[in-house]
Amino acid sequence: MRIAILSRNKSLHSIRRLREEARKLKVECLVINPLECQLVVDGNKHDILVGSVVLPRFDVILPRIGASITDYGLAVVKQFENQGVPVLNGSLAIAQSRDKMRSLQVLAKAGIRVPKTVLTRSTRGLKAAAARVGGTPVVMKVLEGTQGLGVMLLDSPIAMSSVFETLIGMEQDVIVQQFLSEKAGRDYRVFVVGKRVVAAMMRTAPEGDFRTNIHRGGEGHLVKLPKNYERMALRACRILGLEVAGVDVMESRRGPVIIEVNSSPGFEGIERATGLNIAGAVLRYVKRAGKR
Ligand SMILES: Nc1ncnc2c1ncn2[C@@H]1O[C@H](COP(=O)(O)OP(=O)(O)O)[C@@H](O)[C@H]1O
Ligand SMILES: [Mg+2]
Repeated sequence: MRIAILSRNKSLHSIRRLREEARKLKVECLVINPLECQLVVDGNKHDILVGSVVLPRFDVILPRIGASITDYGLAVVKQFENQGVPVLNGSLAIAQSRDKMRSLQVLAKAGIRVPKTVLTRSTRGLKAAAARVGGTPVVMKVLEGTQGLGVMLLDSPIAMSSVFETLIGMEQDVIVQQFLSEKAGRDYRVFVVGKRVVAAMMRTAPEGDFRTNIHRGGEGHLVKLPKNYERMALRACRILGLEVAGVDVMESRRGPVIIEVNSSPGFEGIERATGLNIAGAVLRYVKRAGKR
């Protein structure tokens, strides 16, 4: 079996781990930089050129598309889909989960609890938007941030409006969101592969921060995930069409709240925190997908 990982950077920890597990499972595994892929639309041929070489057919594609190349990366993923190759995750699912507003719209429509959120471009309307999510402090997020960057806690109307105007001036779309204060500074990261939760950790933010991201200094430890959290995380992935995903879930008085669903979740933090072989679980799933 021959698979390809789409990633710009071979030396990333997650890519190294996937290749290591592929070797163990005797799966041939190439890493392809999506920005090197030239996509040919020509009748019913859907060739992909790297330099002057036409890529051979792969059994499965595993996209690990970073936020900085979402548009080009998605075009590449779509091309593989057009070739009829199983792709985990698909382009539509990645696009939908990458956009923080769109994913919340889709989840809320399906009846999944998410924080109260307003997408706004209006300085005039900002006060009303903030009031709709409970007033300051509010959380403000740029639509395509990751690893905690672009996620801010604004504790006064002046902080909120000055940051808002700056971001809008920089052509960034933003959402204003209810600050879930009850259990701020901790959340669950749930790792889903196929229809199963393969690992869950509780993350705690570093002292003085509310963001639990491991890249921002958050710490993770193994937890037993409550059943209702598990069901909700699996349902969110099913609705968004994601087969490999990292779901961020916070606790609230009314039960679990989905913060976001990541389509290219990292392995390093969760493997370290739980001692589980997550990359291996992904690879075994990929191998099954290639045989279907
Ligand atoms: N509405 C919120 N209330 C409280 N904490 C939040 C809220 N939204 C996000 N956070 C915290 O900030 C972290 C990063 O936010 P998230 O939306 O997951 O963005 P990113 O894509 O950067 O990880 C979350 O893991 C959580 O700890
Ligand atoms: Mg997150």
